[in-house]
Amino acid sequence: MDTGNQAQIDYWNGEVGQRWAENHRALDAAFAPFTQALFATSGLAPGEHVLDIGCGAGETALRAARQVGPEGHVTGADVSEPLLDAARARAVAEPAGGAAIEWLKADVQSHAFGMRFDHALSRFGVMFFDDSAAAFANIRASLKEGGRLRFLCWRAMAENTWVALPRTAVMPLLPDAEPPLPDAPGPFRFALRETLRPILDGAGFRDIAFEPVNRTMRVGDTPEDAAGFVVTRGPIARLLRERDPAVQEAALRTVVDLFAKLSGGGPVELGAACWLVSARA
Ligand SMILES: C[S@@+](CC[C@H](N)C(=O)[O-])C[C@H]1O[C@@H](n2cnc3c(N)ncnc32)[C@H](O)[C@@H]1O
Repeated sequence: MDTGNQAQIDYWNGEVGQRWAENHRALDAAFAPFTQALFATSGLAPGEHVLDIGCGAGETALRAARQVGPEGHVTGADVSEPLLDAARARAVAEPAGGAAIEWLKADVQSHAFGMRFDHALSRFGVMFFDDSAAAFANIRASLKEGGRLRFLCWRAMAENTWVALPRTAVMPLLPDAEPPLPDAPGPFRFALRETLRPILDGAGFRDIAFEPVNRTMRVGDTPEDAAGFVVTRGPIARLLRERDPAVQEAALRTVVDLFAKLSGGGPVELGAACWLVSARA
């Protein structure tokens, strides 16, 4: 079924998806404070069935598998073949020792899961749907009555200095860049509670809660690592896609220089802010 997600499916199966897969350890390290927040009060109990939405290279699905134990079950769903391959390889190399995990190539917006999950969770995997109302209705339909939804999404870019500062630095290299449409799929589309709440309401969720999570994020151990993350895999990669390689190279150098100035050449640590959203089916 064509859900309108083809552009995102191409994106996450293309160069950026490949780079995410190759660098998943660095991404997991950077996101660690948020992962901790997602699982701190997750309420996952032994024997439960969990859906990881946009599971990427598998960190959160593996963690959920450990929490629900051998009687439980985890489905890690994603549209990205390279990321699912990385997740499968990782699950073999570092078995979670808990629930069986099914790595499923599926568009969460439309896949018919059946009403079988106790929990649906996601670390930054819910902001890329073409039709968010349809996607959250589908997620709601995959949950048992009373099942729980819990996910992380970014707040406004201005509150995320790890993106805002490098973005400001590279914009002069991209004078023709169009400002993103507020409702277009992308990391910051649910920055405002006012955008997300009616979507969750409309999908039939109740007890909707937004908890702000503010952390200092170690973007990378060196300015080069940190710049590689934000420019080639993070939100700025979207701006640079299909740009001349010379522009991409100049953007990378600009951000390395910026981060070197900010960090004195050491680890780059900047502010990051997201919502921990929870709701009940
Ligand atoms: C920002 S990444 C986060 C990946 C992972 N949750 C993590 O934290 O490392 C977003 C993920 O959502 C996936 N994704 C995007 N649209 C999707 C869709 N319609 N159905 C399933 N997965 C999707 C992407 O392939 C990608 O793996």
